[in-house]
Amino acid sequence: MATKKAAPTRSVRKARPNNVAPAPQPLVVIILAAGSGTRMKSALPKVLQPLAGRPLLQHVLNCARDLNPTAIHVVYGYGGEAVPQALAHEKVSWVLQAQQLGTGHAVMQAAPQLSADQRALILYGDVPLITTATLQALLAAAGRDEVGILTVDARDPSGYGRVVRNAAGRVQAIVEEKDASAKQRRLRECSTGVITLPVKRLTKWLRLLDNRNSQGEYYLTDLIALAVRDRVAVRALLAPDEAEVQGVNDRLQLAAAESTWRARQARKLLLDGVTLIDPTRVDVRGAVSVGEDVVIDVNVVLEGDVKLGDGVRIGPNCLIRNSQIAAGTQVFGHCFIDQAIIGPNCNIGPFARFRPKSVLAEQVHIGNFVEVKNTSIGAGSKSNHLTYLGDTTVGAGVNVGAGTITCNYDGANKWPTTIGDRAFIGSGSMLVAPVEIGAGATIGAGSTIVSNAPAEQLTLARTRQVSIAGWKRPVKRGT
Ligand code: UD1
Ligand code: CA
Repeated sequence: MATKKAAPTRSVRKARPNNVAPAPQPLVVIILAAGSGTRMKSALPKVLQPLAGRPLLQHVLNCARDLNPTAIHVVYGYGGEAVPQALAHEKVSWVLQAQQLGTGHAVMQAAPQLSADQRALILYGDVPLITTATLQALLAAAGRDEVGILTVDARDPSGYGRVVRNAAGRVQAIVEEKDASAKQRRLRECSTGVITLPVKRLTKWLRLLDNRNSQGEYYLTDLIALAVRDRVAVRALLAPDEAEVQGVNDRLQLAAAESTWRARQARKLLLDGVTLIDPTRVDVRGAVSVGEDVVIDVNVVLEGDVKLGDGVRIGPNCLIRNSQIAAGTQVFGHCFIDQAIIGPNCNIGPFARFRPKSVLAEQVHIGNFVEVKNTSIGAGSKSNHLTYLGDTTVGAGVNVGAGTITCNYDGANKWPTTIGDRAFIGSGSMLVAPVEIGAGATIGAGSTIVSNAPAEQLTLARTRQVSIAGWKRPVKRGT
């Protein structure tokens, strides 16, 4: 083996060049989520409060995932198992902090899970709007051996820890507001709490933390002064905008975060070519993909995975959840569409409701006060008014008259209805499932159909009309 002193032979030099790349530094993310969030005044732990329909912590996790870390450790405590249970689908390591003794103490709980070759990135479960791009910039700024902190130029710094720099502009410490001098409190550069550093330094400095401060807590932010003492450079990256690093401590801040989220999503849709009649009145709570020339009117909520094809128009006051709507389809106002696959060039609503699992072919019309559940509808079929179609297979070219109901529930079980191509269901019909209406069949209005109706025939199931000549209306007593 070649030593420093021995002159290496050519072959040894080739095998072990001086500029050998350092071993890769795996990234681990630690998310602090054990605090109670007293200012929320809620029974729900703060990190489970919903932002855009998902827990605050979920947003932070999504962002952390995009960094492809080797592990994510989430420190939980307040609310007990409620937090891991709410996010049971997430592959993370859950670390219990039984007593909330401060952010530094929280990280101490995760320390046994870390290894010395890693770089740690610490995020807060109550800072949900942080972006992957900003975190990547912070990691790049910190390089391999240094400490990186994300700071913010706060319009109103109250509540934040202040970043203290020396005359040369080098970061010296983060001082919590409650421990800050009057002069320090006037500083506007604040700590966002986000910090990255090599694990081997983190574990060393964690052992040196104490709780001799105004709150009697182990402050994670005290690591900065320890880094300075050990002459490790601290790189501060200023967050691109304050809203991104806004902590959520009360419902006022939660509402502000929601509105930042809304604006971000609206901006994305606009840049994707969608017309939003009012970008402040559309809520995206999931992933939306859009074709060209989609138009979305006011007060529309899009939840989960939503796909809107070319030229789709959504009227005002609609909620669309986990659904696909194909090109050219128009959804008029006040529709509620959940887990539906709607074909091209359909007309939906106004006031239509889709409960889960319906599939519509092209040019289907579903009109006002029509409820559709677990039903497939063939091309060109229409159900325009006041109807319930549940567990039904409707063929192509069918006309379902106003007030038709598929009676799919017998009080114990659900049963299917089948309606063949080109059938005509007269208004006010009750189709008592299980039942089949043959292709081309006509059902007389007001029928209660309890047995299968044959194809191409008229089926009526109602009493014959009678008229009574000379019948007198009753008169009010005493007149
Ligand atoms: C913290 C920072 C402050 C920074 C601010 C940014 C410290 C000491 N202060 O203050 O410098 O300006 O964030 O938003 O770090 N948590 C635990 N266990 C605990 C305490 C807290 O897991 O024992 C979690 C909380 O759930 C929360 C996060 O850590 O997600 C931050 O705690 P919080 O009490 O909100 O700290 P701040 O006072 O906001
Ligand atoms: Ca906070």
